[in-house]
Amino acid sequence: MDYKKLVAERIKENVELDLETIERLIEIPPKSDMGDFAFPCFQLSKVLRKAPNSIAEELKNKINKESFEKIENLGPYLNFFVDKVDFTKNTIEKVLTEKEKYGASDMGKGKNITIDYSSPNIAKPFHVGHLSTTAIGNALYKILSFEGFNCIGINHLGDWGTQFGKLISAYKRWCDEEALENKPINELLRIYVKFHEEAEKDPSLEDEARMYFKKLEDGCEEETKLWQRFKDLSLKEFKIVYNMLGVEFDSYAGESFYNDKMDAIIEEIDKKGLLTDSNGAKVVMLDDYNMPPCIIKKSDGATIYATRDLAAASYRKKTYDFYRNIYVVGAAQSLHFKQLFTTLKLMGHDWADDCKHVAFGLVRFADKKLSTRKGDVIFLEDLLNEAVEKTLEVINEKNPDLENKEEAAKKIGIGSVVFAYLKNNREKDIIFDWKEILSFDGETGPYVQYSYARGKSILRKAGEIKGSADYSKLSSKEEFELVKSLGNFQKSILHSIDKLEPYIVTRYVIEVAKGFNKFYNAHSIMNAEDDATKVARIKLVEATCQVLKNGLALIGIETVEKM
Ligand code: ARG
Repeated sequence: MDYKKLVAERIKENVELDLETIERLIEIPPKSDMGDFAFPCFQLSKVLRKAPNSIAEELKNKINKESFEKIENLGPYLNFFVDKVDFTKNTIEKVLTEKEKYGASDMGKGKNITIDYSSPNIAKPFHVGHLSTTAIGNALYKILSFEGFNCIGINHLGDWGTQFGKLISAYKRWCDEEALENKPINELLRIYVKFHEEAEKDPSLEDEARMYFKKLEDGCEEETKLWQRFKDLSLKEFKIVYNMLGVEFDSYAGESFYNDKMDAIIEEIDKKGLLTDSNGAKVVMLDDYNMPPCIIKKSDGATIYATRDLAAASYRKKTYDFYRNIYVVGAAQSLHFKQLFTTLKLMGHDWADDCKHVAFGLVRFADKKLSTRKGDVIFLEDLLNEAVEKTLEVINEKNPDLENKEEAAKKIGIGSVVFAYLKNNREKDIIFDWKEILSFDGETGPYVQYSYARGKSILRKAGEIKGSADYSKLSSKEEFELVKSLGNFQKSILHSIDKLEPYIVTRYVIEVAKGFNKFYNAHSIMNAEDDATKVARIKLVEATCQVLKNGLALIGIETVEKM
């Protein structure tokens, strides 16, 4: 039951305000002894020409009090105290009937949201830094979809640019075919690094690379085939990681997809009179906005990242008629997105205001002992594999007889890394520390997973439930706090949508897990005072498990039934 709505309806029965206004006015009192909801009577006082205090008092006497323990007036406020038993029963039963839909809604119905996330560069390592955009984007996709928005996940691959000329040149000179097939990105990275080393000694290599890129741009067969091969090989490796994470995309339209859409966008910018010549380059001046110019065409006539993003935004609007167009990209690109959105606005597109850059911080490593294949880059695949291995070690130590150990280690291990990435405000840097991430206590993935598995084990022991629950027995502080948390699920989802912050959901599941453990430690379930209490507690456990599962699913983490 939505108590806020109920409060609003009860008030509406007595006053001349529309439901929406009433709902907007309702507050949550700062202290729980002031009730669960409060309605201020100041606005009514203007209409009714009466003191707010006396309006509150009159309302208190008239209002229907069903489902409330009491309704009091505190000065100009009307304070509502929800009936705890009624609330407990309604909350638990709602979770248990709605199941995997509990917390969902159709508030986003008919609204399309494009989410650009992950978007790695072809022929470059998919490293640990890429997990931020991938995990945040995936979580936002799930969270928004859960509330009825129609999300379109776009992997805006970095698959175009002058670097492909260098790569073709390097390929022709130094590529080891076998290595390319076995570990494509390592080999592409090796020859790319070599290209730069050699080009320092012999600058003519740069001209050769430019020539190859020109050929690629002109659609020459050999160069196009090579580029396609680099792209296919890279994608194959990226997809290994996407599979491990359970991440999917609706579109893989990367930068190259916009090659044939560049002329039109440049012409449009020109027609609006925005194109300025700057040392041979074509730019949009953004001085009035205290920003450097947005480069549209370099002096050699080549388009750049920004040009492709302008074309992409315009294409997304035409194709998906988005309600919001979200970019999950590191904070280092904040200026790029400001320039992009400002240019779109100058072009007369009001929908530029619907474009949002969802930025995030860096990942740092607390302990250096991480397996790296090459140089400083830590491949995400290696990190995830290491998490699975370490988790398996813990399982072997704690519960060696667990069935499907490998499967469980995968879900818990990978989940623990994702959890760590989504635990804090996304603008904050992440300090990656194995000990902390894999710990079974503290605010970690394994802790939440373990709470879920513990709940499931209780439910298995309880078997089929006979008899009915007496919810009035769940009156202890621990029980009521847990019920209240369960009731707050959707509120935290909406908060997370409002801020485009998955960590709000992560924090929420931590809160539920903590509440569950407090309850579990304080009260016996199987040996409860009587059957009606036992049934009520079992139902509370069942509802808790459901909410933990739904919450973790929203941040892209699968649960295990046993661990
Ligand atoms: N490929 C870029 C990078 O790795 C990220 C692309 C983000 N999306 C976009 N539409 N610009 O930095």
